[in-house]
Amino acid sequence: MECSKLKLLLFLAMASTLVVVSMCEKTAMKNKGECTFPAIFNFGDSNSDTGGFSATFGQARLPHGETFFHSPAGRYCDGRLVIDFIAQSLGLPYLHGYLDAIGSNFSHGANFATAGSTVRPQNTTLHQSGFSPISLNIQFYEFNDFHQRSQIIRNKGNSVFKELLPKGDYFSKALYTFDIGQNDITAGFFLNMSTDEVKATIPDVLDQFTTVVKDIYEQGGRYFWIHNTGPVGCLPYVMDRVLITAGQVDKVGCGSPFNKVAQFFNQKLKEVVVYLRKKLAHAVITYVDVYSVKYDLISHATKHGFEHPLRACCGHGGKYNYNMHISCGGNVTIKGKHVLVGKACKDPSVAINWDGVHYTEAANKWVFDRIVDGSYSDPPTPLKMACH
Ligand SMILES: *[C@@H]1O[C@H](CO)[C@@H](O)[C@H](O)[C@H]1NC(C)=O
Ligand SMILES: *[C@@H]1O[C@H](CO)[C@@H](O)[C@H](O)[C@H]1NC(C)=O
Ligand SMILES: *[C@@H]1O[C@H](CO)[C@@H](O)[C@H](O)[C@H]1NC(C)=O
Ligand SMILES: *[C@@H]1O[C@H](CO)[C@@H](O)[C@H](O)[C@H]1NC(C)=O
Repeated sequence: MECSKLKLLLFLAMASTLVVVSMCEKTAMKNKGECTFPAIFNFGDSNSDTGGFSATFGQARLPHGETFFHSPAGRYCDGRLVIDFIAQSLGLPYLHGYLDAIGSNFSHGANFATAGSTVRPQNTTLHQSGFSPISLNIQFYEFNDFHQRSQIIRNKGNSVFKELLPKGDYFSKALYTFDIGQNDITAGFFLNMSTDEVKATIPDVLDQFTTVVKDIYEQGGRYFWIHNTGPVGCLPYVMDRVLITAGQVDKVGCGSPFNKVAQFFNQKLKEVVVYLRKKLAHAVITYVDVYSVKYDLISHATKHGFEHPLRACCGHGGKYNYNMHISCGGNVTIKGKHVLVGKACKDPSVAINWDGVHYTEAANKWVFDRIVDGSYSDPPTPLKMACH
């Protein structure tokens, strides 16, 4: 019998209603079992790109991928990313990049993220600035096209595509994941903007982010899992490229101005999430504080079993083993000979930073293990309950 009917009956019988009510509430909580997300649709940058950038602009070269995939796998990492661990723990296959035309199977989701993506469209080309032209609005256009056309193709009858594309109802049952914003912050700094100037761009960045979440909701999306942005001031590519003074380095060795802007972004993102919850009545939105997890890992690296938190495992030269002109997997010409310089460190399993920009698989796994149970989320919902 349903709780409501039981309550009514017992109420009429003037029995110990209170006891029964509290029993019912407990059952209701228990009945809020694990969600079954049949698919994941991901939006983001290199933190969650599983092949989009590589398919479009050329493969990330070895030693990217060497730890887990044993060959390049479209990820800027030696192995798996947080999004891979999310998919795995939900019992879903690793996501293929939407742009990856070769061998992709989208039956359980698609990944629209590309390395270098920003929320706001940039006014520079990839060649000029290194930022991907596939900004979040473009990722949404792709998603929209995927949503409409996948169903047209599926409904055409029996074909191999039926097996390779998601069912129609998956779009409302799926988990929509986001990890984007880091490049909007660095784009400002790389243009020599002051901290205040970069901060001043953030409301516009988040307005554009909000629009995309609303647009996905309009298409039936209900469950949103939103990562905040990490401590970008602890990454060699920022520390190496933007001049900072000794007074701007924190105890850990990270650049405070960059981290302060990241924290400001996160504070505003949290406000946006509160606004979206009000505006989108049937949405379930989980905000995940990835910043705190990553900063804890970097600032207490030894305690957590890691070494040299600010040093790239795969890179070349300088204080951080990082040189933007000789990146991981790249060659230099020494005396007319090509030499592979981006060689990985001996033990990537104790390194945090992979290539000066991205985290190692070991660090990604560590981060995933901290966020999966909801202890860094608002509300503190575990991943598997993120539909309630
Ligand atoms: C696509 O992936 C699903 C889930 O892993 C699998 O069951 C299915 O067989 C795959 N389809 C094809 C055609 O490879
Ligand atoms: C690009 O230029 C347009 C028009 O001047 C401006 O509105 C927009 O904010 C610029 N975008 C960025 C990321 O600077
Ligand atoms: C930023 O400043 C540096 C150092 O003054 C300069 O070399 C660089 O060209 C500037 N970048 C831009 C985009 O203005
Ligand atoms: C880098 O050098 C290696 C070793 O000589 C060579 O096999 C590889 O093709 C080079 N890669 C590029 C992109 O030049």
